[in-house]
Amino acid sequence: MDRYLVFGHPVRHSKSPFIHTLFARQTQQELEYGLAEPAVDEFAQALRTFFDQGGKGCNVTVPFKELAFTLVDCLSPRAKRAGAVNTIKLTNDGVLLGDNTDGAGLVADLKSHGVTLADSRILLLGAGGAARGALAPLLAELPSELVIANRTHTKAQQLAAEFHDLGPVTAQTYEQLAGSFDLVINSTSASLQGELPPLAPALIHTDIAIYDMMYGASDTAFISWAKQHGARQTMDGLGMLVEQAAEAFTVWRGIRPGTKQVLRELKRNLGVI
Ligand code: ATR
Repeated sequence: MDRYLVFGHPVRHSKSPFIHTLFARQTQQELEYGLAEPAVDEFAQALRTFFDQGGKGCNVTVPFKELAFTLVDCLSPRAKRAGAVNTIKLTNDGVLLGDNTDGAGLVADLKSHGVTLADSRILLLGAGGAARGALAPLLAELPSELVIANRTHTKAQQLAAEFHDLGPVTAQTYEQLAGSFDLVINSTSASLQGELPPLAPALIHTDIAIYDMMYGASDTAFISWAKQHGARQTMDGLGMLVEQAAEAFTVWRGIRPGTKQVLRELKRNLGVI
C-alpha cells in the first residue's frame, strides 16, 4: 500500500492522518498515512530513510518546513516563493519534488467562506513563515492593496520589498494603520500564548472579515477580541488546514477530494460542533 506521513515536532496531535484517511476513503485511493516525530537534528536522515523504504510522499510541518526546502531535489514555483516546503512528492522519475500548499489552502478557504479578494483592501498581521507562504497566493487574487504589519517592523518591510513585483504590497507599523480594511488575516503566533497583536479596535467594523490562521476548540484570542469590537464574519484556520491537505492530496494522487464533509467531521472530532 502507498505510504504517506507528516513530519513535525511535536506532531502527535496532528489532524493530518485523520484528514487524509477521510480523503482516501472518499476518493477510493489505497493508501496509509502516519506520523513521524524525529528529533530536530535527525529530520534529514528520517526523510531520506522514509523515501528509501518506499514512501510516496509526505507533509512537513513546524519546525521542519524551511529545512525541507533545502533537502528536496526540485521546488515548485510556489514553494520557491514561500521559502518553505509543506508537501513532498516522490515523482515517477525518483525526484523529490518540494511544494507548498499552505497559501493555496488559505485562499481556497477564504473563497469557500464567500470572501471577495479581488479589489479588496487586505491587512496581513505577522511577517513570519506563515505570512510569507500566504503572500503570493493572496496577491494573485488581485487585491487593491495588501498591507503587512508586524511587531518587528523591519521584517514586514523586508517581506513587502521581496513580494513587491507581484502586486501592491506595503509595510506599515501597527500605529500607522488607518482607513477601512475589508479583510484582516492574523498569521502571527500571538494566539498560541493567548496574546493579541497590537491592533487598534477602531480598525474593526461590522463589514470586515477576520481570519485567524490559528484554531482551537473555542474561539482564538484574536477572534474573541474582533467579535467584541463588532466583527460579524470571523473564520479560524481549521478550513485552511483541510484545504492545504486537499491540495497536497491532489499533488500526490492527481485527484481532488471534496473538503466540506471532511471539515464537518474534523469539527465533530475536535468537539467544535
Ligand atoms: P510562523 O512560521 O508560524 O509564521 P514565526 O516565523 O515564528 O512563525 O512568526 C511568528 C510571527 O508572529 C512573527 O511575525 C511574530 O512577530 P515578530 O516578527 O515581531 O517576532 C508574530 N508574533 C508572535 N507573537 C506575537 C505577539 N504577541 N504580538 C504580535 N506579533 C506576534
